[in-house]
Amino acid sequence: MRTQVAIVGGGPAGLLLSQLLAQSGIDSVVLESRPKEYAEGRVRASVLEPATVRSLRDAGVGGRLGQEGIVLDSLQLRFDGEDHRIPIKELTGGGNITIYDQQEVVKDLIRARQAAGGRIEFGSEAVGILNITSERPMVRYRRAGEVRELECDVVAGCDGYWGISRSAIPSDACNVYRRDYPFRWLGILSARADRDVLTYASDERGFLLWGLRDAKLTRAYLQWPPNESAEAWSDKRLWNEIGMRLGRPDIGDSPQAGPIVERATTTLHSFVIEPMQHGRLFLVGDSAHTMPPTAAKGMNLAVADARLLAEALEVWLRLGRTELVEAYSSTCLRRAWLAEHISWWMTWLLHRSGDEFDHQLQRAQLRQITESGVAARHFAEWYLGPDCSS
Ligand code: DHB
Repeated sequence: MRTQVAIVGGGPAGLLLSQLLAQSGIDSVVLESRPKEYAEGRVRASVLEPATVRSLRDAGVGGRLGQEGIVLDSLQLRFDGEDHRIPIKELTGGGNITIYDQQEVVKDLIRARQAAGGRIEFGSEAVGILNITSERPMVRYRRAGEVRELECDVVAGCDGYWGISRSAIPSDACNVYRRDYPFRWLGILSARADRDVLTYASDERGFLLWGLRDAKLTRAYLQWPPNESAEAWSDKRLWNEIGMRLGRPDIGDSPQAGPIVERATTTLHSFVIEPMQHGRLFLVGDSAHTMPPTAAKGMNLAVADARLLAEALEVWLRLGRTELVEAYSSTCLRRAWLAEHISWWMTWLLHRSGDEFDHQLQRAQLRQITESGVAARHFAEWYLGPDCSS
């Protein structure tokens, strides 16, 4: 099989890239190792920056997002036992947060690609990325037990942190930056509770993120002790813990405290590889950078990378000009490091480490955000990402 752009990985990055390339008349094939049902069900964060919403709209997949996305004009910080509303829209001159699940974005993109006759090869696991420093790269993949080859002009590595793309870059041709955090999260999903406020709480019992999943579900993340089993906790005990961190000790008794339908723990890490390109291989999204989910940046960065790569490839493959592909890695990394920074900083700001000096620094910064207009504006713009004002 042959195509112009071989896209390894059918998450938001790969699918959006394929959609944008098709709009420019560039042919691509998406290789996704999992079946379609799995790709559509992968639960991830749901906070979209304004620029992400615009990119999805421009790609022709803004319809359901516009109808079902929950638009929030503020978020809440909770510390020292008090709630503080941060009016993001007012602070940024019009920027909103949109809550719309990553797997809904994936469903919309798959539908759009398939309706346009785009090629997405589910159940196709990439096993080798070859000849990337030549003009004829090739992706070897396994499908239904058979090894096949996809020849192309360019490979886009959109297969996430655990994928194979990154390892095609020789170790002496890149730098890797990594940070591991001493914190763990327990994520739960439950029937929709009554509070439509995205809340980041720094409580003496630990961090709590109280989010919204969609019209029916609520998402909460709790800083979770390293050796504690979440399975051993009853729903009622978990609701009590959430209630205490949220300043609503009665939440466990309210009718909204429905059954907890999912619970999973995760460890927190930051990772960046530089450059994001080697020869004709371009990394996109999580294959090049990951971060703790505290500021919900992962999918937003993946969308930003895919958009930049689509523009760069259009100018290169159609007009023969290389300036945008040459700048691709440094342009993406500028934005990625800002996202790395806010994710690292919000993780540090809101978690309890037991270090009292750190805790006093955290309180000073949280007070500054809620008391100084300049600090609040800086936080709001950083949280919403570049180009956030509309
Ligand atoms: C969600 C996840 C996040 O990491 C975050 O910062 C806010 C919300 C979510 O899944 O809804």
